[in-house]
Parts: sequence; C-alpha cells; structure tokens
Amino acid sequence: MKQTTPLLHNQWVLITGASSGFGAAAARAFGAAGARLLLGARRVPLLEQVAAQARANGAPEVHFHALDVTQTDSVTQFMHWAGELIQGPQNPAGRLQVLVNNAGGALGLDTVAQGKDQDWEIMMQTNVLGVLRMTRAALPWLAHNAGATILNIGSYAGHTAYEGGAAYCAAKAGELQITRSLRLELLGTGIRVTTIDPGLAETEFSVVRFHGDQARADKVYEGMTPLSPEDIAETLVWVAGRPAHVNIDELLIKPVDQASMTKVNRRKPAS
Ligand SMILES: NC(=O)c1ccc[n+]([C@@H]2O[C@H](COP(=O)([O-])OP(=O)(O)OC[C@H]3O[C@@H](n4cnc5c(N)ncnc54)[C@H](OP(=O)(O)O)[C@@H]3O)[C@@H](O)[C@H]2O)c1
Repeated sequence: MKQTTPLLHNQWVLITGASSGFGAAAARAFGAAGARLLLGARRVPLLEQVAAQARANGAPEVHFHALDVTQTDSVTQFMHWAGELIQGPQNPAGRLQVLVNNAGGALGLDTVAQGKDQDWEIMMQTNVLGVLRMTRAALPWLAHNAGATILNIGSYAGHTAYEGGAAYCAAKAGELQITRSLRLELLGTGIRVTTIDPGLAETEFSVVRFHGDQARADKVYEGMTPLSPEDIAETLVWVAGRPAHVNIDELLIKPVDQASMTKVNRRKPAS
C-alpha cells in the first residue's frame, strides 16, 4: 500500500530549483508523500523529466513553469501561474501548504582579494534576494493555521566561515536571518518556518561552483561519503509532515565524514 503523509496528502507544495539536486529529489519525495506539485527553475526540459519521476512516485498532480528567482518579473509571473492552479474553478479556496525555497548555490572559491563581482552578485541574488522575492510572492497563497510550512535551504556555510567562501557564507548567513525574521513576522498565522542547513552533499552544486569543471567538483567528495539529495528530501518531507503545532526551527545536517568545513575524513583508494 502507498504510504502518504496526512498533512501533505493532496496538498500543494511549491519547490524552487526543482530541476536538479535537492529540489528534484524533493519533488520525487513530496510526490511519494501524496502532494500536488508546482515546480520551478530555469531549465524547463529538466523540470519535465523531474515531473515525470514525481508522477511515477505517485504525485496526484505535477505542474512546472520557468522561474528565475533573480528576476522579480519572473517570480511574479510564476506565482500568477501557480495561483491559478492553486485556486482553480474547482478549488476556489485552494491554498499552498508548503513553499520550498531551494534555488541557490555558490560560484567560485576565490578569496575576497580575488573575488569576481558577477559571482558575488549572483550568489546574493539567488540565495538571499531570491528567497525574499519568492516568499513575498507566495505568502498570500499560503494557508494559515493549517500547518503550512516555509522550508528554506540554508547551508552549514551559513554557520561557519572558510577561506574562499566569504560571499557564499554571507549569503547563507543571510538566509538564516531571513528565516528567523520570518518566524517572528508570521507568529500567529500558523505558518511554520524552517531552515535546513546541509553540509557536503553531492549534487550539481560543485560543478556549478567551479563553472563546469567536473574534475575539480569530483575532488570535493573524493574518498568520503557525502550526503545524497535524497537524504535532504526525506528530511524536508519529515519536517513538513510534523503535526501542525510543531515547528522544526533549524536543522544542521552533515555527513558523518565531515567534522567541520575543512576537517573531512577521506579514505585512500584501495590499491
Ligand atoms: N550540495 C551541497 O553541498 C549544498 C550544501 C548546502 C546547501 N546547499 C544549497 O542547496 C540548494 C540546492 O542546491 P543543490 O545542492 O541541489 O545544487 P544543484 O544541483 O546545483 O541545484 C540548484 C538548483 O537551483 C536552481 N537555480 C539556480 N539558480 C536559479 C535561479 N536564478 N532561478 C531559479 N532556480 C535556480 C537550479 O536550477 P536551474 O539551473 O535549472 O535554474 C537547480 O535546480 C542551494 O540553495 C544550495 O546553496 C547545497
């Protein structure tokens, strides 16, 4: 028998950055929990593939649309499209149950002295302003007093610093404080606000960070066991499926092989 999560069954879940990594895994996992999905990212053909996987996992409805969280117009258009699905003619009182602010990432590993304006600007635009824009646009659609949930994807980088990480650490520290501010602002609405902050996880994250250099990206995970996208997706479904009065505020999730940003247990390849 298919297992569904009561708070999520047939509920609308909106996921940004659903074309790869955590967002794609979240679409598959929320689909398996019986949720109806609204997926956004820039690479629409990938969204189409993820939508098919979520449907195969049992999602009763899956829709996708282009979204660039760095552009207010794109966010507005996306929420207009999403709103028409959430409150269709057969469902005039429809509401969004879960917003997953996942779109984001890092660019470069330059010291501040070597930093590139374009990398800094994109990191702030996606990880900080993107979360603000999406949340502002989605808030009118979120259910009140019904266990509705905003799940922001932060990072271990928001809690600690490392050389070459100044802009990304600052951006994810910004995401953490946005999460905390929202929890204060939304008190009394019933909307829960959570930040899920992963350590090393193998997705497209490092390939994007190193501008397509796959060999350099592979080095990041060499000899250790990173988190998988499914590890994070499972956690997102668990958090959103808690009873409506329970708020999981902040979750820091690291692989066992990672004690700190720089202290990682790497096994030598068997000779
Ligand atoms: N992997 C890790 O080690 C790790 C650790 C901690 C936190 N995180 C965070 O986890 C989140 C997901 O990353 P991931 O690891 O799953 O990496 P990923 O595989 O590169 O996924 C990033 C997702 O964000 C989307 N995205 C990027 N810029 C966007 C934009 N301007 N508008 C809309 N969507 C955008 C991408 O889609 P398109 O390119 O199709 O737009 C993609 O779907 C990010 O916020 C990242 O900072 C990752």
